[in-house]
Amino acid sequence: MRLGKLVISAAAFAVVSSGLFAGTSHMDVEKMFEKECQGCHGPNHEGGVGADLRPAQLEKKNAYTLAEIILNGRPGTAMPPFANKMTKADAQKMVDYLQHFKGKKIEVLTLDAVKQGWKKLNDRMKFLKKYPNPVDVKKNTDICFVTERDAARVVFVDGTTGKILSRHPAGFAVHVTVTNKRQPRYAYSISRSGLVTMFDLNTPGQQKIAECQVGSDSRGLAVSPDGKYLMAGNYVPGGAVLMDAMTLEPLKVYPTSSVINMDGDIGSSRVAGVYDTPYGPYIAFALKDAGHVYIIDYSKPNYPIVGDIPNIGKILHDGFENEGKEIGRYLMQASQGSDVMGVVDFKTKSLVAKVYTGPGSKPHPGQGSSWYNDRYGQLYATNSMNVGDVVIWDSDWNVVAHIRTAGGGLFVGTSEHTPFIWSDNVLGGPANWNKIYLINKQTLETDRILTVGTKRGTIIDPVTHKTLYSWKVPTVKDKKGKVIIPRILHAEPANHGKWTMVSEWNAGRIGIYEAKTGKFVKYIEGLTTPTFTYSIEHRQSIPGA
Ligand code: HEC
Repeated sequence: MRLGKLVISAAAFAVVSSGLFAGTSHMDVEKMFEKECQGCHGPNHEGGVGADLRPAQLEKKNAYTLAEIILNGRPGTAMPPFANKMTKADAQKMVDYLQHFKGKKIEVLTLDAVKQGWKKLNDRMKFLKKYPNPVDVKKNTDICFVTERDAARVVFVDGTTGKILSRHPAGFAVHVTVTNKRQPRYAYSISRSGLVTMFDLNTPGQQKIAECQVGSDSRGLAVSPDGKYLMAGNYVPGGAVLMDAMTLEPLKVYPTSSVINMDGDIGSSRVAGVYDTPYGPYIAFALKDAGHVYIIDYSKPNYPIVGDIPNIGKILHDGFENEGKEIGRYLMQASQGSDVMGVVDFKTKSLVAKVYTGPGSKPHPGQGSSWYNDRYGQLYATNSMNVGDVVIWDSDWNVVAHIRTAGGGLFVGTSEHTPFIWSDNVLGGPANWNKIYLINKQTLETDRILTVGTKRGTIIDPVTHKTLYSWKVPTVKDKKGKVIIPRILHAEPANHGKWTMVSEWNAGRIGIYEAKTGKFVKYIEGLTTPTFTYSIEHRQSIPGA
């Protein structure tokens, strides 16, 4: 489907008016506007700090006077003079462009457009009556999802046996999956192409209930802990979409096509991470380009924005919440442009700290890690994309350790059942991307290193270099017959805490390891670029995941 594009209606007829003025201009006025004017007047000329410059406002005004304003500014207002950057002819060309502006292809998120993309696929109530209990597994929380990125599919796996239960097309580059904590039989996925899909895990083959095209480029997804609402975040059109979690009916949109960024400029922002919290009736989402986190209160009529936390940092990405005392009160929001983890407090709805993760580090926590340490109390960790460094901080928001790893990574994962933080090195190049560092949660040192070789896998002690375990690994070749060095990422607990699942992106399989030791158990094979795994049982107790 096509999302409605907001095309600002201009005067319906085009007048070749530049000929009215003396001199010719070679200025690319559109580029000039983007560079010099958009910050104040808005990407769609809708105004902000500056005046509304859309044709409806300007068409009846004297073109000569407007050109004079551009050249000389408006003393006593924020409108600066541009005489040093533009000639008279340039200013006249600019006025002509403004007076006949037909709208840029900035898509603005609208509820009507999203509603057009909502489709019911099966009768939820019928399934509810027919399948009160899960058909394919003992408990629906035993199910894990795997996203097969390049195959655009979601796969459901029995997390207690590793058996593949079903596969479903779910949109280009399926990104994230979440479950309904109140009713874990309902699961949801979002694809990068903006398709949200709802599944009923109790049915044979985990059938779809509904789908909704929320945008054309999307990322984040969260379900409110009361099980009633689902929120999706879009890159394009910028904004977030609140849906009914039982039907996917779109209820409200939060467009972010005109927001103030950290430089004080108004522009469009993509929405990155979306987070629910057990702390209050809130869902938060991060404005990637604008540096804000918005908090909405879904218990109030019309689901208002009740918190706007600006200036967290540039290029916001993913985040996670605290565990332990007051679980879910704090959101750790990664800013990749400023190399900080911003700590947002849901209680005061304010930014309480910025944890600096190091120069050029680009924090990427993924599901993050929050655990209790005997010496420091509750701790938090993120991975770094640009350097091999796991950064750990405490509840006073001070960094207490930097753990050097082999290379840049995307995910750190842990659970109460493993003594380790499992950190991948998936961006560290072929020499390092087949390693997972197992960092001891108490000593805050690397305890062991898991390596998946082309023929053998090993767990070694980084201090004594002794091999603790070693096992045979089936060699995988690419289409040209070249042996593949497994590129491994994302550690997810499964099977009542006994296992950790690690995706092998280019080798098409998931390795299962003992959570307590890192020892190899077995492979789930026959997958296409498995990326993200999600254990319902594990995530039931993780806030915001
Ligand atoms: C720092 C902010 C800022 C920037 C940058 C800026 N403007 Fe303005 N502009 C304003 C403000 C504020 C006003 C309204 C002034 C007033 O109150 O009369 C304004 C007014 C105008 C007006 C008059 C509108 C009317 O209805 O009378 C025009 C035309 C205009 N700006 C064009 C531009 C162009 C073209 C650029 C870039 C080359 C630009 N502005 C850059 C802040 C800005």
